[in-house]
Amino acid sequence: MSLVIQDLGKRYGDTPVFSNVSLTVAPGEFVAIVGESGVGKSSLLNCMAALDDWQDGSISLDGTDLGRLNETQRAHWRREALGFVFQAFHVLPHLDVAQNVGLPLLLLQRPDPARVAQVLEAVGLAGLGERLPAQLSGGQLQRVAIARALVHKPRLILADEPTGNLDPSTAAQVMDLLQAQTRENGASLILVTHSEHAAARADRTLHLTAQGLAPGV
Ligand SMILES: Nc1ncnc2c1ncn2[C@@H]1O[C@H](COP(=O)(O)OP(=O)(O)OP(=O)(O)O)[C@@H](O)[C@H]1O
Ligand SMILES: [Mg+2]
Repeated sequence: MSLVIQDLGKRYGDTPVFSNVSLTVAPGEFVAIVGESGVGKSSLLNCMAALDDWQDGSISLDGTDLGRLNETQRAHWRREALGFVFQAFHVLPHLDVAQNVGLPLLLLQRPDPARVAQVLEAVGLAGLGERLPAQLSGGQLQRVAIARALVHKPRLILADEPTGNLDPSTAAQVMDLLQAQTRENGASLILVTHSEHAAARADRTLHLTAQGLAPGV
């Protein structure tokens, strides 16, 4: 998926977060975004996912102006094309692991237990499909969130600190998986991270400040 962001500005009430954020991401490209805590990285991803509004500028996805879509159209687009790994996981507590991971397929009316088992195995959670989220470690929960973001082969993957709770070897495996998914499906991957190892894998690393996105770390 191609993504074009032009001069994006975000405020919460009167409090500015960032302005003049511009970014073009090509299909299949992997871009890492780094920046200090509180600078607005999660807010920026939420805007790209049309989960939050922005005050200035525009976001366009494969030529469609995201700002012009109504809520129903935004929800439809998210369901079809987006995989989002939330910083806080947002795993549903009353659904077991396999149900959480299978949810995007269910919403698309394409339930596929074999695909669910495949991604669970890929994130190292084979055999844990029937556990409830409360019975998992933080790193296992993070991998559930990653499996859920990839299960429907989205064209745009937004991942907010997806390796923050993982040991170095599991983190490397998860990054391998995110990158493989990006390559296989011609998806674009935008990764917010504090990890130098994760950022070093990207095609480009951009630094978010209140004034915009600049190259470099
Ligand atoms: N819903 C909200 N209402 C008001 N202010 C908010 C809201 N969400 C975030 N903020 C503020 O906006 C700023 C950016 O927050 P955001 O979560 O995007 O930062 P971040 O770069 O992702 O930080 P971290 O690296 O700690 O995850 C922060 O100052 C935060 O307190
Ligand atoms: Mg954040």
